[in-house]
Amino acid sequence: MPAQDVLVIGLGYVGLPLAVQAARAGFQVTGFDTSAEIAAGLNAGRSHVDDVSAAEVGDARARGLRATSDEAEIGPQDVIVICVPTPLSQADGPDLGAVRAAAEAAGRLLRPGTLVSLESTTYPGTTDEVVAPLLEKTSGLTAGIDFWLVFSPERIDPGNPVYGLVNTPKIVGGVTPSCADAAAAFYGRICEQVVRAASAREAEMAKLLENTYRHVNIALVNEMAIFCRELGVDLHDAIRCAATKPFGFQPFYPGPGVGGHCIPIDPNYLSYKVRTLGYPFRFVELAQEINGRMPAYVTERAAELLNRNSKPVNGARVLLLGVTYKQDIADQRESPARPIARKLRGRGAAVSYHDPYVPAWQVDAQDVPRARDLRAAVAAADLVVLLQAHQDYDLEQIAATAPLLLDTRGVVPAGPRVEAL
Ligand SMILES: NC(=O)c1ccc[n+]([C@@H]2O[C@H](COP(=O)([O-])OP(=O)(O)OC[C@H]3O[C@@H](n4cnc5c(N)ncnc54)[C@H](O)[C@@H]3O)[C@@H](O)[C@H]2O)c1
Repeated sequence: MPAQDVLVIGLGYVGLPLAVQAARAGFQVTGFDTSAEIAAGLNAGRSHVDDVSAAEVGDARARGLRATSDEAEIGPQDVIVICVPTPLSQADGPDLGAVRAAAEAAGRLLRPGTLVSLESTTYPGTTDEVVAPLLEKTSGLTAGIDFWLVFSPERIDPGNPVYGLVNTPKIVGGVTPSCADAAAAFYGRICEQVVRAASAREAEMAKLLENTYRHVNIALVNEMAIFCRELGVDLHDAIRCAATKPFGFQPFYPGPGVGGHCIPIDPNYLSYKVRTLGYPFRFVELAQEINGRMPAYVTERAAELLNRNSKPVNGARVLLLGVTYKQDIADQRESPARPIARKLRGRGAAVSYHDPYVPAWQVDAQDVPRARDLRAAVAAADLVVLLQAHQDYDLEQIAATAPLLLDTRGVVPAGPRVEAL
């Protein structure tokens, strides 16, 4: 299919890299985002996404990429890719509001032969049961006959220097086999390998399987971290040894909790769908419970460490290092640093933070003081809590200077003033 015009709806962590890469592959790309600020920033050559540089935005702009927040400026398209958020509702169920709005917009921009690809993570059945009817109602056309519709999960790993959009295999699941053909032709021009799922439902499930697998395995090691400490076992050393097995084992590491847009949220989409069958998805619910308790556990350990050194939490100067949800990126969404700061503050600690990627940080709409001089701040704190071991950090030096250090990542050698989670 010689597609030329591509519309990407939602220009965030998923949509912007795709828009840039599609422009590089020779498509005429328009980006649509409800945020006028994001559209204006991109048109001015700025990037708001970690993995996309301003130079890459500039290059894509030179190849014709333009962004808009005004649907009236957009004409009919050959390909429309939906990359809008899928957050949780108040009741922790799926909130498909943005997907519905984007599907309606796509329906208005459809013409016979258009390919529509949903990339937003969601529960199995969304493409068939929610998106297809909206597209058909708005356009008056039929999916699989007049236009093509697929689910194609985004598998981006922010900050990963090896695997990105181009060299991570791209799954496509069509509402019909012809839909998958159209999507394979489109993504085949952007990605090195396209993997066909049996249908949209299997593609939706594949994404949730990947994220649930991580969630459950992280919960497994987090639970083990708690009892290994009481058993006097160094879990990190056990993981190091287990990981030498050349087959059948993948290492996961304990930490202060899970963050980001995927792991804490996506499995809820799956458990919501399973609940409609009348029973719970117990693995996910258990993982939510264990991972969700980690910030409280970190706070408790921080208090205990201070107490052992004759310092009450109340009034203690606690410095949090690294408040993003992942190493070496700026994304703070759902970061466990926030509940940890809240809990410590609630117990009277004077909490400050340092993060090379976060110039200002609020918790519950209240500014958390930022340490500018890392070395001085580490030395002046009563307790340093390492939450994210960004590569910029000189861990040896931090360990040597901190009066007390709680290492939630297991990356600093243990010592009299250093304790692992
Ligand atoms: N961030 C990741 O690493 C990642 C990885 C895989 C999958 N996903 C999934 O991809 C989807 C998008 O995630 P993201 O991280 O890019 O989100 P994001 O919040 O970074 O970006 C979404 C963008 O969509 C815009 N938007 C919201 N509603 C819109 C609408 N109706 N029309 C047009 N634009 C709209 C927002 O203004 C925002 O700029 C989610 O379903 C997410 O679960 C994210």
